[in-house]
Amino acid sequence: MDEILVVDYGSQYTALLARKIRENGVFGRVVSGENFRVFENTKGVILSGGPQSVYELGSPRLPERLKQISVPVLGICYGMHLIVHEAGGRVVRGKTGEYGATTVQYEEDPLFEGVPQEGEAWMSHGDSVESLPRDCRVIARSCNDIVAGIRRGEFLGLQFHPEVRHTDYGDRILSNFAIRICKATSAWDIHNFADRAIERIRDEVRDERVIAGLSGGVDSTVSAVLTASAIGEKLKGVFVDHGLMREGEESEILHILRALNVNVSVVDARELFFDRLRGVHDPEEKRKIIGKSFIDIFEKEATSFGATHLLQGTIMSDVIESGHASEAADRIKSHHNVAGLPLEMKLKLLEPLRQLFKDEVRELGRKLGISEKFLNRHPFPGPGLGVRILGEVTPEKARILQHADRIFLNTLREMQEEQAAWQAFAVLLPVHSVGLRGDKRSQGYVIALRAVDSTEGMTASAHEFPWRVLKKAASKITSGIREVSRVVYDLTDKPPATIEWE
Ligand code: XMP
Repeated sequence: MDEILVVDYGSQYTALLARKIRENGVFGRVVSGENFRVFENTKGVILSGGPQSVYELGSPRLPERLKQISVPVLGICYGMHLIVHEAGGRVVRGKTGEYGATTVQYEEDPLFEGVPQEGEAWMSHGDSVESLPRDCRVIARSCNDIVAGIRRGEFLGLQFHPEVRHTDYGDRILSNFAIRICKATSAWDIHNFADRAIERIRDEVRDERVIAGLSGGVDSTVSAVLTASAIGEKLKGVFVDHGLMREGEESEILHILRALNVNVSVVDARELFFDRLRGVHDPEEKRKIIGKSFIDIFEKEATSFGATHLLQGTIMSDVIESGHASEAADRIKSHHNVAGLPLEMKLKLLEPLRQLFKDEVRELGRKLGISEKFLNRHPFPGPGLGVRILGEVTPEKARILQHADRIFLNTLREMQEEQAAWQAFAVLLPVHSVGLRGDKRSQGYVIALRAVDSTEGMTASAHEFPWRVLKKAASKITSGIREVSRVVYDLTDKPPATIEWE
């Protein structure tokens, strides 16, 4: 199965590049420059954009090994600057830069086959190519007379972003690169991904044993079922009941896993989590405590099981948002799947879904026999309700939030609105607001309802429910939960907000 490697220099569009390559049936794998190496099936390399300037001291370079291979290379923005800079050309800070849709003129080149001579392309750069290295020619130029594309033998560069939908014929340019120039065979799909992943898991684990952290989410469940089909009883799933799950989570997940022959046990760790979270208000601190406590439990379980590996359901969006594909991307938050791990962790990590997008994980789950209803569940964060109870987490707040969340989701289900939103949930705000109970004024918590439309969770917009749906949920929550006096709806998009409140 042919692959194109996407070296991440920290652009927000790196994952999108991999995605666009996959749409051509070729596996686009995101890698970091530090660990760069090519395999027999590597047919080409894309160098992503990035926030730095190539002339800055300490900015990331071309991977050494890239210079010794002979597959085509396509540099995008920072990636193109690297090609030019390292071959002796000059990249400088331009007077104005170019941002947004810009008209570009294309020369004849296999990269632009089927692309009209002139079109709009999405720019986002302050630096520009001032002079070219030897043997390098311009293959595209912007209406501002800035170099928009270069070719130097097998090295190609684009100043604009073909992966962004605002670039006319951007898909065609990437498909020309993958299929025409790299000559990659279009054969990738989730079925052969599964077969290869199973082989890779067997290779990596051999005679050793694996412990799996199950969070009740789709990602950890799919990774456990996949791994169980590779190594059977050598996998042990551990479901940690930390008291911060949605209601009914435990029985549902156990039912699914056992039906699919995953060896799984439950650890009741509610006391441990609530103890460690007592008095802690800072969101990052809470995430770290939750992540660390998971690991502590796994390590204990792992020792008694004799495991050497820890399986995690990390997927592409976790990796990208944590800035772990490379050191270059800004770190947004420490998703516990990735960054909460203590450095001295004794277990080796197994992350078979690391390269997949959410919809690909669902497709894989379907292939593995997991029910549609489960796979279509809304995403649920690893730290659970811990990031939906703002400020200090207590058992009482967890109980109230579980109840409010269940009422909200049941209302959506009854009114056939659950699948209309990509994700919907309740949040507990640690403020007291006044309300009326009978004739008496009383103080209660505020519950915020949040629902968003999104594809990958990277960006999102607040979902527009019919008013009657929200009113119904609000009235059921305030009448059903004595401690809640008020319900509000979150209208913020991502960005500027995130989906979760912490
Ligand atoms: P944010 O809040 O970052 O959320 O806009 C984007 C998506 O990721 C989920 N999320 C998490 N998932 N561990 C996870 O496994 C986490 O720590 C975490 N934080 C947020 C969130 O529910 C949304 O779907």
